Amino acid sequence: MQAKIVLLPGDGVGPEVVDQAQAVLLAVAKQRGHSFGFETCLMGGIAIDETGEALPPETLAACQRADAVLLGAVGGPKWDNPKAKTRPEMGLLGIRRGLGLYANLRPVRGYTELLGSSPLKPDRVEGVNLLVVRELTGGLYFGAKYREDTPKGVRVVDTLEYHAFEIERIVRLAFEIARGRKKKVTSVDKANVLESSRLWRETATELGAKFPDVTLEHQLVDSCAMRLVTAPGSFDVIVTENMFGDILSDEAAVLTGSLGMLPSASLGEGRLGLYEPIHGSAPDIAGKGIANPLGTILSAALLLRHSLGLEAEAVSIERAVEKALARGARTRDLGGDKTVSTAGMGEAVIAALEG
Ligand code: NAD
Ligand code: IPM
Ligand code: MN
Repeated sequence: MQAKIVLLPGDGVGPEVVDQAQAVLLAVAKQRGHSFGFETCLMGGIAIDETGEALPPETLAACQRADAVLLGAVGGPKWDNPKAKTRPEMGLLGIRRGLGLYANLRPVRGYTELLGSSPLKPDRVEGVNLLVVRELTGGLYFGAKYREDTPKGVRVVDTLEYHAFEIERIVRLAFEIARGRKKKVTSVDKANVLESSRLWRETATELGAKFPDVTLEHQLVDSCAMRLVTAPGSFDVIVTENMFGDILSDEAAVLTGSLGMLPSASLGEGRLGLYEPIHGSAPDIAGKGIANPLGTILSAALLLRHSLGLEAEAVSIERAVEKALARGARTRDLGGDKTVSTAGMGEAVIAALEG
């Protein structure tokens, strides 16, 4: 098949990890007779430097024309000035909202090969296979926010708002996905404090009645954070609002062994999706060629699955990652005595694809 893929390498380690994922996609295309055309666009800090805007209109337009978008990461200390008019992260939020990508899927696996890389006890982590379904275009991220001077000093406001339909569509998706998995949904909220969470819980309960084959449980976000590291094997699908999902998914990366391992897919109503590792631009290791590219490579697998419908190809990448790990390839974040570079890990995955 032919497909148009927009690459948004972004900042920090973004370009390093996207290069490897692109190489893996090219290897799969060659192996299976597909033709993937790539267009690289500016987004994030690099776009601010070159155009003054974090998300130039040409970039958004190119993404809208594409079959799928693969992103590295954005941000870094260079653009952290609190007085700046725009920030790299605004580009990312703009693209998620601009493409209507309200559903962020973040699969988390406890790879047998990486049991030694997690600081958690192996018996807790082995066999973990959970999915965080994070609402991505609402909540605190997109509500009104401002700062004002008052007689009592500076006052700041961040608003957490949701429409019922925004909660309904993401929770419904979680139930639908759970049907094809272990049939369990954990709806995570803070219903003991937040009005938005109370609507979230009501909505999940109402939808739960429509999915009698799926077990629904509600859990408060604070105790969920604890349970994620004490009994991670007890989860199947976790569905939660934007900010809770952001925080819980970085925590869940500990189960796999490194933040560099986790991929994500951001989806809307159509087939177009945005695929990115869950980690950031990792300024502390950028430019050193040591970043773990597997989160981005696994995001490329999700791209093949969800936007291009190439399930067998997606699985072949996922198997190749496991094989490369089984053969001992480890970037520095995964520990071990002998480590490979970012490019070395990409090569190990491509070698594993080939046999
Ligand atoms: P981070 O995810 O960039 O880094 C946290 C830690 O994890 C660092 O020690 C880093 O070295 C390590 N790490 C991250 N990715 C890694 C990889 N692939 N391989 C090995 N180690 C890896 O989080 P941060 O330091 O809090 O944020 C840095 C910048 O990234 C901020 O500007 C933030 O806004 C941005 N950010 C962007 C995205 C995104 O573009 N999707 C996501 C998260 C953070
Ligand atoms: C992520 C990131 C982003 C988020 C930031 C960079 C806006 O942390 O993709 O997890 O909070 O969604
Ligand atoms: Mn995050």
